[in-house]
Formats: sequence, C-alpha cells, structure tokens
Amino acid sequence: MHWCIGHTAPSVSGMATLSRSRSRAPAASDATSDASVSITGASKTFDNGFEAITHADLQVAPGEFVSIVGVSGCGKSTLLRIAAGLTPPNAGMVEVGGTPVAGPHPGVGLMFQKPALLDWKSALENVLLPVGIHRRVAEADITEAMRLLRLFGLGGSEFKFPRQLSGGMQQRVALARLLMTGATVRLLDEPFGAVDELTREHLNLELLRIHDADASTTVLVTHSITEAVLLSDRVVVMTPRPGRTRADIAVPLPRPRTPEMIRLPQFQEIAAQVREGLAATDGSVVGS
Ligand SMILES: Nc1ncnc2c1ncn2[C@@H]1O[C@H](COP(=O)(O)OP(=O)(O)O)[C@@H](O)[C@H]1O
Ligand SMILES: [Mg+2]
Repeated sequence: MHWCIGHTAPSVSGMATLSRSRSRAPAASDATSDASVSITGASKTFDNGFEAITHADLQVAPGEFVSIVGVSGCGKSTLLRIAAGLTPPNAGMVEVGGTPVAGPHPGVGLMFQKPALLDWKSALENVLLPVGIHRRVAEADITEAMRLLRLFGLGGSEFKFPRQLSGGMQQRVALARLLMTGATVRLLDEPFGAVDELTREHLNLELLRIHDADASTTVLVTHSITEAVLLSDRVVVMTPRPGRTRADIAVPLPRPRTPEMIRLPQFQEIAAQVREGLAATDGSVVGS
C-alpha cells in the first residue's frame, strides 16, 4: 500500500522548509537537515537470484529535485524502494539526513507506480490517511485535503471511491496523499504514467510550484525526458542488467521553470545529453 511515515506536519503549507542557494524560505527547523538522500554502492539481488542493481549511487542534496530515467526493468523502482527503506540492499550504504536507513524512515514519503488506494475509502479519506494514522483528523486537515484535490482537478470527486475514478485520477489522489504526509523527502515513481498529456503538463507545473515553495527534496522516476529536464536540477540515467546509475546530467536552467523553456536551445541540448545517455545503455524502450 502507499506508504508514508514521519508525519510531522499535516499540510503542505506546514511543511518544514529548507534553505538553499536559490531564493527560498529560511530553514524552519532542524528537521530540514533530514532531507538529504545518500545511496553509495547499493546492490540488490532478489531471493530468486536475480541481480536487479549493482553498485548504484545516488546523492540528493536537501531541496534538490533529481529525476531518474532508464529503460524498463533497469532497477529504478528498486532504487527508490531502497531509498525509502522498504527494500534492504545486499550491499552498500543508504542514508537519509546523514542517518543510516534500516527501514521506513521518518520524513520520507514514497508514491508508488501504482496508486494503491484503499478501495473502500473515498478520494478524500484516502488523502487524509497519513494524518489519521498519527492523530485525530482536524478541520484544517480536511480543508487542506480538499484544496489539494481541487488543485489536481478533482474538485467534485472528493467523495468518489477509487473504482469510480480513472487511473490518472487515482494517481492524482495518490499524489495529494503523498503531499499530506508532510514528508520532506518525496520519492515519486512514475507518478503521471496514467495521466493524459494536458493534465500531465498541469501536474508537472503544480509539482514544480509546490517543490519551489516548500523546498522539499524530490526524486522522480519518469520515462519522459522533457519532464525530467523541465523539473529537475539533475537527471540521473540508469543502465540495465544489472542496474547502475551512470550519467548524471546537471540542468542549470534558472527557476522558476516555465513550459516555454522547453523551446530554449539550452533545454534541447540538455535533453539531447539525456537521450544520448539512454541510447548508450542498450537502446530498449524507456519506461516501465
Ligand atoms: N521482488 C522481486 N523479485 C525478483 N525480481 C524482481 C523483484 N522486484 C523486481 N525484480 C526485477 O528486478 C528488475 C528491476 O525491477 P524494477 O526496479 O521494478 O525496474 P524498473 O522500475 O526500472 O522498471 C526487473 O527485472 C524486475 O523484474
Ligand atoms: Mg518501475
């Protein structure tokens, strides 16, 4: 099921903020130092003997937005699950906020590739789940959950059940639920895979806006090179069999980012670098 831990704040607006080089709100608390992710030399061989990833590295600074791209089956989801403490690696070091990860870590939220909503709960109840696990749901939580649902185009669907929602709508509910966790590290595994192109563009911009406003640390797995470049500070390319993190491409475009930047020659150059990095893997179809 969708997993969230370390609930420290009930709403996006209440999240801890991080200081960064770019103009952002000053750090609100020491909790902000918990927002780095460091994976060094991680390897994972599953019980059936399949070596999914080997010697994978991923360094994400507090407040940074990093995307991971790679062909299907190269280990992207496995790497995110390792960062989240859900899959223990066979080797390597995994730290969040400088603390070794030995299981689900406070302050880290993962949005799975599949929305994994509770069928018997409404969209609104699903979004409120992370709050309800930790304490009694307050009026302000409901207001915030309703706001997020409206923000993601789900106004009017608050009381619908998952079976009454399209795949893309379910993904948006799962995204709203992730934001309700108050996690300062957000791991997003192909969050917009089932969303149509126009809605995806809208959600990308909202995600950018939310990230820039609260300075969360974000790791996004995506099969869209354009999405990866537009949103990220860096794009990491994974290579398959077994999965390794390879090219690490900086995106020195200014923030706030706008969709118009996609047309810039600089944007296209960076996208070409990512494409080359992927082509250097094995030419398989990107995504999963
Ligand atoms: N629990 C598991 N047991 C055995 N093999 C697995 C398991 N989970 C994933 N794999 C395999 O590990 C590889 C990487 O999977 P995954 O991380 O989901 O890739 P991606 O997200 O890049 O598509 C795939 O070949 C997949 O079939
Ligand atoms: Mg995957």
